[in-house]
Amino acid sequence: MNASQSSHKPPHFPPTYRIAPSILSADFAKLGEEVRDVIAAGADWIHFDVMDNHYVPNLTFGPMICQALKPHAKTASGVAVPIDVHLMVQPVDALAAAFAEAGADLISFHPDASGHVHRSVQAIKGQGVKAGLVFNPAQPLDVLDWVIDDLDLILIMSVNPGFGGQSFIDSALRKIEAVRRRIDACGKDIRLEVDGGIKTDNIARVAAAGADTFVAGSAIFGKPDYASVIQAMRAALANAKMPA
Ligand code: DX5
Ligand code: ZN
Repeated sequence: MNASQSSHKPPHFPPTYRIAPSILSADFAKLGEEVRDVIAAGADWIHFDVMDNHYVPNLTFGPMICQALKPHAKTASGVAVPIDVHLMVQPVDALAAAFAEAGADLISFHPDASGHVHRSVQAIKGQGVKAGLVFNPAQPLDVLDWVIDDLDLILIMSVNPGFGGQSFIDSALRKIEAVRRRIDACGKDIRLEVDGGIKTDNIARVAAAGADTFVAGSAIFGKPDYASVIQAMRAALANAKMPA
């Protein structure tokens, strides 16, 4: 690589990886304890999957649960751990506003669930919260042509949304590569998160495609020792190839 190529390395390089356990697979009878335990095990963010039985065929939790968990989303020494809200709801705006009030640090929504994507992004940011767009496996990225500069996060679904414990869809890797190119071209500090079917044995491939933030539900909460799974994921990331 010559000097001019290296000077074009994106601002995120080398990547600071984030692991975001999804509490969709936690024990709902003791959610506060689960959040504290997974943070003690090394979670960087808490991923909060909101489903409305309309946009997706499942129903989970709303802003009151987010508000109740907010005091638990910190390390033992009191450092706040971001709550990463993934809205699988239609319409978007009223619930996004309620989650901003409830303490969400990032709010992502599916563009096909909002009548006015640009307005929804601005509304979230206007409440002082980071904004993200989420893309389903068969959904094109075209909307990014018009809003990427305004985003803090792009979330690529590697399963169809609605349920934990599904298998990773391989075409997500090509989509992650395409999003990585778009992020690097615009030069902004935008997180590239991947959601669905992430395990210790595929996380390095997903990082090599260009992702820097990894949601994992069943892989972490399905095992008795959360810390050993998160450590295994970090070890795999440490050996991951850099995106081309
Ligand atoms: C699916 C959710 C995911 C889910 C991932 O609609 O958005 O966040 O919890 O679960 P795993 O990691 O089990 O595929
Ligand atoms: Zn999710």
